[in-house]
Amino acid sequence: MELLSTTFLAILFILVRTQQGFTKTKSRSSPDSILRQKNYPLLWRIVREGGHRGLAECQQQFKNEIWNCSLGDKNVHKQLPIFVKTTLPFATRETAFLHAISAAAITHELILQCRQNRIPGCKCGKTRKQPTGNSGWQWGGCSDDIKFGEKETRRFIDKLEKGNDARTAFNLHNNEVGRKVVRASLTKECKCHGVTGSCNLKTCWKQLAPFNVVGSELKQKYRAAVRVSFLNNKLHKRDNNRDRLVTRKHKKLVYLDSSPDYCVRNATVGSPGMLGRTCRSDVVPTKECKSLCNSCQLRHKTVEHYKQVKCRCKFVWCCTVKCDLCTVKYSLTTCTK
Ligand SMILES: *[C@@H]1O[C@H](CO)[C@@H](O)[C@H](O)[C@H]1NC(C)=O
Ligand SMILES: *[C@@H]1O[C@H](CO)[C@@H](O)[C@H](O)[C@H]1NC(C)=O
Repeated sequence: MELLSTTFLAILFILVRTQQGFTKTKSRSSPDSILRQKNYPLLWRIVREGGHRGLAECQQQFKNEIWNCSLGDKNVHKQLPIFVKTTLPFATRETAFLHAISAAAITHELILQCRQNRIPGCKCGKTRKQPTGNSGWQWGGCSDDIKFGEKETRRFIDKLEKGNDARTAFNLHNNEVGRKVVRASLTKECKCHGVTGSCNLKTCWKQLAPFNVVGSELKQKYRAAVRVSFLNNKLHKRDNNRDRLVTRKHKKLVYLDSSPDYCVRNATVGSPGMLGRTCRSDVVPTKECKSLCNSCQLRHKTVEHYKQVKCRCKFVWCCTVKCDLCTVKYSLTTCTK
């Protein structure tokens, strides 16, 4: 009898424990996962928007370069390179840059939309301990949630990379470099409180730099990219005639294939070539446009054009702005044979 009741009690105990275990894990993960499920379509939309912003920033950064971030195919604008490996078949320095800037833009966009309260349940990021002593300021306000942006970018983008091949390792490494640059762009912003002019109390929060700052930082990394090889399922770089492992701590962009000659048309690599490339003086100085053609052994032709822009704008009470139309001159340089 006693044995039976002990066994019964033991089973009951196990049942209760298991039950507790279930409810515990459930209640811990549930609000978060429900939120993620609910937000899934919204987050995907933001991820795509971020991808397009990355591409736009790439074109901005490379507008006066031979490779101008053109991807050859018009389709690519729908099928952003970060989503499909086949759109950029070679693992060049340029592909590396596109991966990094896309991952960076997606991270940046997610954080921005979180700050603007567009993502339900997304809150302010954590800041470290309050500064000690009489430092004259304290953490306050809403810091950008870098962790959220990084986590979601990994979930949506890095998860697309399956397998254990060179290209997967290359993509993942460069995505991570993109996110690191966004993280490094966080700076402390402060606001003064107290009677006008006095700054008795200062509160500070962490805020991301505008995306073009991230873009130019990544462009520097593009220039400093290092060539690597894939050995024993890992990326390695050549250093003083020795192979060294490229770890996640490595902050440089890496590439596997050398770049093709972007001066010439080559459909395989999506290069339209420089013949017929146009360049506007209101975007890039004419001198630079010309030397761009010259660097590909092409001649150039410059034609003047006119455009109408709004000017002499006046504020009319209340509440419109009236402008005149002015004609301004600009020149269009085309690379020719
Ligand atoms: C296009 O580029 C690829 C990769 O660099 C190269 O192997 C191929 O020969 C090029 N094709 C032409 C027509 O230049
Ligand atoms: C890049 O250059 C090609 C021609 O070389 C041109 O067709 C394309 O529109 C340019 N892209 C951008 C974004 O300026």
